[in-house]
Amino acid sequence: MSAYRPIRPLPEQLINQIAAGEVVERPASVVKELVENSLDAGADRIDVDLETGGKRLIRIRDNGQGIPREQLALALSRHATSKIGSLDELERVGSLGFRGEALPSIASVSRLRLTSRVRADEHAWQVETDGDEVPPEPAPAAHPEGTTVEVRDLFFNTPGRRKFLKADRTELGHIQELIRRLALARFDVSIHVRHNDKPGLQVAAARDQDAAEERLARLLGRGFVEQSLRVDVEAAGLALRGWVALPTFSRTTADLQYLVVNGRVVRDRMASHAIRRAYQDVLYKDRYPAYVLYMDVDPGQVDVNVHPAKHEVRFRDGRLIYDFLFRHLRQALESVRPEAPGGAAAPGAPPSSADRELPRSGAAAPPPRASSAPAPRQDGFGFGVREAQALYGATGTPDVREAGMASAGAASNEAEGVDDGAAVEVPGDQGPPLGYALAQIHGVFILAQNADGVVLVDMHAAHERIVYERMKQQLAAQGVSAQPLLVPVSVAVAPAEAELAERHHDAFSRLGFELDRAGPETVLVRQVPALLRNADAGALVADVLADLRDCDDASRLEARLNHVLGTMACHGSVRANRQLTQAEMNALLRDMENTPNSGQCNHGRPTWTRLAMADLDRLFLRGQ
Ligand SMILES: Nc1ncnc2c1ncn2[C@@H]1O[C@H](COP(=O)(O)OP(=O)(O)OP(=O)(O)O)[C@@H](O)[C@H]1O
Ligand SMILES: [Mg+2]
Repeated sequence: MSAYRPIRPLPEQLINQIAAGEVVERPASVVKELVENSLDAGADRIDVDLETGGKRLIRIRDNGQGIPREQLALALSRHATSKIGSLDELERVGSLGFRGEALPSIASVSRLRLTSRVRADEHAWQVETDGDEVPPEPAPAAHPEGTTVEVRDLFFNTPGRRKFLKADRTELGHIQELIRRLALARFDVSIHVRHNDKPGLQVAAARDQDAAEERLARLLGRGFVEQSLRVDVEAAGLALRGWVALPTFSRTTADLQYLVVNGRVVRDRMASHAIRRAYQDVLYKDRYPAYVLYMDVDPGQVDVNVHPAKHEVRFRDGRLIYDFLFRHLRQALESVRPEAPGGAAAPGAPPSSADRELPRSGAAAPPPRASSAPAPRQDGFGFGVREAQALYGATGTPDVREAGMASAGAASNEAEGVDDGAAVEVPGDQGPPLGYALAQIHGVFILAQNADGVVLVDMHAAHERIVYERMKQQLAAQGVSAQPLLVPVSVAVAPAEAELAERHHDAFSRLGFELDRAGPETVLVRQVPALLRNADAGALVADVLADLRDCDDASRLEARLNHVLGTMACHGSVRANRQLTQAEMNALLRDMENTPNSGQCNHGRPTWTRLAMADLDRLFLRGQ
């Protein structure tokens, strides 16, 4: 037993250093706290100067409201804040800060200089500390309205922490990611970064849709902007805006996922699960969706005080948020299907000159609607899902299908003349979005002509999507219709697969399969889904069981059923090299126009692309 040590209050500086352990992990955390303070102070320009990855110097200057002389010492004291004053205010807090901990924590582990000027004053005031307990009296200084915080030699007095700092490049990388997040959260603020006296990220404030997308492209790359849909919905007291990438822009990691809740970039498992589920039908299992989403929730419904670095929040009604995200994002993704010629780019389409005047994101966006109001916070993203759906309503009338079939018949009557591609006239006004089939190329693609130019369709991918969506609909409307086989087919499978068929007998029969185990390694197929009746039943079942073997356990039933459907659609789809008649090709085009999600196949590959006349002209240098 060691000798008894009396209990003593800790010195103030040590208290702050302990708090710094949670608040200040590395230079990027300092940048986060200081920039958040600038945002809370109403700044619309923030300059970030760094040296050696932020280890030697972090200097943040803003043009916010400033701190008056007599409050400078308080700003550096623990548990002192201007942002809340009561529990009630904490529970509805709208600012990023609220603990009154950041500045004293940072000051306790660095050499800090705080210079600030409020509008009413003639000059600025400055305090400097070296991790001391009591900051000295403010001295006069020169500085425009706003605040500069300079943090030098981070962890100079806590060698244990300093040891854990990484190479400059690594620390700088963390800072850049951090600034990217803040820049995404607040489009109304311009941010200018310098590192070792060289300019780094520079983003101007974005006050309209075009500027917002320019900024987005700068922060996340043009590919994301070009291949994403804009979302803009309000319901149940919640608002959701932003961009979700088309499944064709999926990622191998979850690195491009930003969720901003009430102006705060957060990680939330529940929300990311809801978003992932919205993509479930259109994304291959190891791929991750990319998105930048802004959610506005009544501040009283979000608890921001649940994580030491405020990286997480807790929703009081999580179910509501989950359903809201899932439902609206799935709707947005389902709306991706071919639309009228002259609309925005098809997924995977090269940018055409006609498209250049259109918003770059949004596979179905009408001409841009300049948002006149300046964009405070994340407002002003304009056009949204509702409008997109209105647009589809206008083009995707139920009659399209029959009209398409009728003319498909007409086309096939003159099939001989069609083969050279000259005889097909796109009738009347615009014609259907995907036009009419001209030919089949190498048994893999359909070449069609629409009012705008030519369309190429990946037959297999398109058909797979259509079968899948149809099966889902059938399933929802009470079971898949099944087709009994005249003679049951016996399939040799692995014992585990035979067991799977046995165990999930009911689930399979709900999907139209009648599978009976006929031995340790044999399954008898008595019935298959009517939609897949042309497939080789034995091969189909063998494939499905093999596919299901590893996604069997954890996934929930619904997810599993969907997966089975997707798998079956894959296996039953038109195989490459199958010769389709003109009528079949046209029917496929019409089906695509009427099928949700038909812009991409079940694995997120694009199903079709388009070359407008202007693109063709450009290819051949016509009119130049
Ligand atoms: N850049 C700034 N401009 C104007 N006032 C500032 C600035 N930075 C800090 N302050 C003032 O100093 C106070 C203390 O800042 P500090 O970051 O320590 O705490 P906080 O922001 O209130 O809470 P948190 O610890 O959650 O960040 C703030 O409440 C604010 O009034
Ligand atoms: Mg703060």
